[in-house]
Amino acid sequence: VVGALGRHLVLVGFMGAGKTTIGREVARSTERPFVDLDEEIERRHGPVTDLFAQGEEDFRRIEEQLAAEVLARPEPSVLALGGGAPTSPATQARLAGAFTVWLPVDVEDAWRRVRQTGRPLAADEGSFRQLFDRRLAAYELVADAVAHDVDGVLHAALAIEVGRGARPLELAGPTALVADERVLDLHEPPLDTVVHRVRAEKTLAVAEELWAALRVPRDGTIVAFGGGSTTDLAGFVAATYLRGVAWVAVPTTLAGQVDAAIGGKTGLDLGGKNLVGAFHFPRRVIVDPDLLATLPVEERRAGMAEVVKTGLLAGRELWSLDETEMIAACAAYKASVVLTDPYEQGRRAVLNLGHTFGHALEAASGYSLRHGDAVALGLLAALRLSGLPEDPVVELLSPQPARVDPERAWAALQRDKKRRNGELVVVLLDSPGEPRLTTLPDAELRRALDSLIAG
Ligand SMILES: NC(=O)c1ccc[n+]([C@@H]2O[C@H](COP(=O)([O-])OP(=O)(O)OC[C@H]3O[C@@H](n4cnc5c(N)ncnc54)[C@H](O)[C@@H]3O)[C@@H](O)[C@H]2O)c1
Repeated sequence: VVGALGRHLVLVGFMGAGKTTIGREVARSTERPFVDLDEEIERRHGPVTDLFAQGEEDFRRIEEQLAAEVLARPEPSVLALGGGAPTSPATQARLAGAFTVWLPVDVEDAWRRVRQTGRPLAADEGSFRQLFDRRLAAYELVADAVAHDVDGVLHAALAIEVGRGARPLELAGPTALVADERVLDLHEPPLDTVVHRVRAEKTLAVAEELWAALRVPRDGTIVAFGGGSTTDLAGFVAATYLRGVAWVAVPTTLAGQVDAAIGGKTGLDLGGKNLVGAFHFPRRVIVDPDLLATLPVEERRAGMAEVVKTGLLAGRELWSLDETEMIAACAAYKASVVLTDPYEQGRRAVLNLGHTFGHALEAASGYSLRHGDAVALGLLAALRLSGLPEDPVVELLSPQPARVDPERAWAALQRDKKRRNGELVVVLLDSPGEPRLTTLPDAELRRALDSLIAG
C-alpha cells in the first residue's frame, strides 16, 4: 500500500501543531470525512476540561475507544488525534493499519498558541514543556511521515518528496534504473545501479527490450528517470515484470513533476494513445525542480499547459507562484484528487479538463501537433463552453489554431474513451475551482471544436 491510498490519514502532534486546521483542509481537498477526536469526544461526552476533572484515565479510555471506532470505519477518513492519543499502546497498534503524519511544532510556538485556551494540560509552562519532551517519542514511533502544512500532508500521503537539489536515492534491496538517454547525458543518475538507457518513447518495442534486459528480482525496485514517457513506460514495465515489482519515479520534465509521475497511471501508446496500461502506484515520487534547468522551451510550455489546467481546477493562480511552490502546489492538487478516487471511478476524471478536445486535435494531426499545444487549445474550448474568461490560457499558453482536418478531428472526438451511456463526457467549470463532468449536445461540441481549428 502506498501512503494513505485507501486508508485512513491520521494526523498526530502536540497541542498547537495545527492538527485540526490542517486536517479539516486536507479532508476538504481529498473529499474525505474529517474527524477531530477531541471535538468528537466533547460532542458525545461534554467538555474535555470536565472529563479531565473526573480523572485523566477516564478521558484516555474514551479517547482510545473512539480512535478505535473511527479507525475501524471502512471509508477512509482524515483523523486528527488528540496530542496524548498516540501514547496509548492500543492506539499505536491500531495506527499500523493507517497512514500517520506527524505535524511537528516548536515548543515556544505551541505554548504561545495554547496557553490562554484553558486546555487542562496547558495550565503552566514548566509542565507543558516536560509533557512536550515526553510525547516526542510517541509521535516518532507512530509516524509514517512528517509534514508542516496542508500541501506537505498531501505530498506525504502519496509519497511525493519535493525539494531542490540532487539527493542520492537510498533504497533497500536490488534496484535497476530506467533512464531517458537524453536526460542521462545531462544529469547525474539519482542512484548508482544498473542502468537501462531508453528512448523517450512509451512503445511496446521499448517495453519488450526492457522486459528482456531486466534482472531485478521480485523484491527489487525499478527507478524511472525521465519525463512522462519514461515514467509511464517504466511504471508499466514494473507493473508487469514478474507480475509486478515496486517502482520509484524521478520525473525530469515539468509535465512529469506536476502530473504524469503522480497517481499510478502507467502505460504504453498503441496506435491511438494510452490504450494499454495499468494502475501501479510508485512507492516514492522524487520531485527536484533543478532537473528542469535543461528542459527545452517547448517542453516547458507543454508542462505549463498542465499547470494552467491544475490552477483552473484548483481555483488558484498557481502559475503566478515561484517555480518550486508552483510545482509543489500542482503536485499537492493532483495528490488530493487521486486520494479521493485512485482508480478513476468518479472525481479523478476532472483531470481530463482540456484533454478531450486536445486529444482529438492531436489525433487529427497524426500526432504532429504537440501535446502541450493541443491541451492549451482544449483548455480554451473548456473555458468557452463554461462561459468563463479565456485570459489565463491566452496569456500563458498563447494557443494557435490547429491546422487539421475538421472532419478528422470530429471523428476522433467521437471515438474518445470517456463516454457514459454512449455520450461523450466533458469537464467544464462552474467557476475556477468548481469542475463538473457533463454531456453536451453534438452541435455545441462541434462548434467548440471547430473554433480551435484554422480555417
Ligand atoms: N500517467 C499519467 O497520469 C500521465 C499524465 C500526463 C501525461 N502523461 C504522459 O506523459 C507523456 C509525456 O511526457 P512529458 O511531457 O513529460 O515528455 P517526455 O517524457 O516525452 O519528454 C519530452 C522530451 O524532453 C526530454 N527531456 C526530459 N527531461 C529532460 C530534461 N530534464 N532536460 C532536457 N530534456 C529533457 C526527453 O528526452 C524528450 O525528448 C505522454 O505520453 C503522456 O501520455 C501521463
